Amino acid sequence: MSFHLTALLLLIPALLSAQQPAAPTVDFKKDIQPIFAKYCYQCHSVQKKKEKAGFVFDNVERLSHDVGEGRIIVPKKVDESDLIPIVLGVDGKKEMPPEGAKLKTEEVEKLRTWISEGANLPGIDIAAKMARQTRQRVREVMNWTSKEGKVIKATFEELQGDFVLLRMQTDNKVYKVPLTKLNPAGQIQAKMQAE
Ligand code: HEC
Repeated sequence: MSFHLTALLLLIPALLSAQQPAAPTVDFKKDIQPIFAKYCYQCHSVQKKKEKAGFVFDNVERLSHDVGEGRIIVPKKVDESDLIPIVLGVDGKKEMPPEGAKLKTEEVEKLRTWISEGANLPGIDIAAKMARQTRQRVREVMNWTSKEGKVIKATFEELQGDFVLLRMQTDNKVYKVPLTKLNPAGQIQAKMQAE
């Protein structure tokens, strides 16, 4: 065998391993779920029938709707993920949990690492989900009127139970708006967009 071929064969394993993305160091079930259980389930849980502001953290499928561009968890973009300022109570966010023990530094760090590694959720294809959300974003900007007659401009994202997810034109973030906060025409508009 020529020297060059031998050298090449020796190189192959190194090349292959270099191409492989680093395995996530944080595991949702082992590292993240317990944090949500400890600090959030009390008020945000399907099982406890507590869904403050429309958020639940004990159901992976439901939680996956809060993952994506402009949502509270933006995969690989820790700085754009409101979940972090929310648990820290900074940037004008109402601190979560609103009472009792706060998250420990190492727990916040785990959340940050989980997000920077792609916010993986068991059984959920995050990449496919984000591609779907991007396709939805070409939807037209519509006027939405509140019960009080205030008009906002936003694109419809999805209907989630009693909430409509609207992407506001002002900051491109997705807000969960209780249907009951919209005027009757707005409520119909939301239901029609969902069809
Ligand atoms: C004691 C009850 C309670 C606990 C525990 C709690 N929350 Fe909340 N959460 C609320 C209430 C009440 C609201 C609605 C606040 C409002 O609209 O003023 C809320 C709203 C939210 C919102 C939407 C508001 C926003 O700023 O976007 C998020 C996200 C949220 N909570 C995340 C969490 C997370 C994450 C945890 C755990 C680390 C948690 N919450 C723990 C009661 C709780």
